[in-house]
Amino acid sequence: MTMLLDPNKLPVHLAIIMDGNGRWAQQRMLKRIVGHQRGAETVKMVVEQASLLGIKYLTLFAFSSENWSRPPLEVRALMTLLKKYIRQETARMMRKNIRYNVIGNRSELPADVNETLDDAIAKTAGNTGMVLTLALSYGGRQELSRAAAHIAQDVIDGTISVNDISVDLFDRYLDTGGLPDPDFLIRTSGEMRISNFLLWQLAYTELYFTDTNWPDFTINEFHKALANFQSRERRFGLTGDQLSQRGDLSNE
Ligand code: FPP
Repeated sequence: MTMLLDPNKLPVHLAIIMDGNGRWAQQRMLKRIVGHQRGAETVKMVVEQASLLGIKYLTLFAFSSENWSRPPLEVRALMTLLKKYIRQETARMMRKNIRYNVIGNRSELPADVNETLDDAIAKTAGNTGMVLTLALSYGGRQELSRAAAHIAQDVIDGTISVNDISVDLFDRYLDTGGLPDPDFLIRTSGEMRISNFLLWQLAYTELYFTDTNWPDFTINEFHKALANFQSRERRFGLTGDQLSQRGDLSNE
């Protein structure tokens, strides 16, 4: 089944909470890490599809600040999987003109993971296609408090003044500085919450939840989610009439 998608109405920035790897594995009497390994296959499909469709920014919640509290064996296995994925996929990223980016507290990541990330970021830095952002050791509240501390330090140092602090300035101090806000958020596995992901950036994002666990999320489901996005009217606090007037004007 192929969905008819309007190429002019795709989200510019798509964010995904890839949830349900553990449950997928447990339902099959498999180890949780097997679920993550299968999840990495879904990541490959989504990255390939998003880039083919012309989505400009794809942001994946790969490891949260809170995930450090999981059993050490699972944390280690996830870090190894991540490193393996990045190493294996960099050649494909080059072919597909995809640029790697990372958000989150990188100082908490193991040194070897950081080296792999630095290498992949440097290699793909000149690519002009999709920006693939991995959220690693990422938490929205942590990001906001780091940004606030950085702003406070710059006020103390005199590089900015208190009066300069605005929504736009705050935006630039976030890990996502330079990225547009997500237009669409997909969360798999039936949980209907944000779980400390992109708290500031999701203010006007369209949210989509599916019961499917991440390892079972297929290309058809992905297209179905994007078709659902295309059916929505985004108002950004305006009325429907105001929006259609704006549309009329922009067509003139
Ligand atoms: C949530 O499932 C998923 C994670 C905590 C890790 C996501 C990682 C991957 C999809 C694989 C590696 C990533 C990349 C970018 C290659 P869960 O374990 O919380 O599932 P559960 O809620 O069913 O326990």
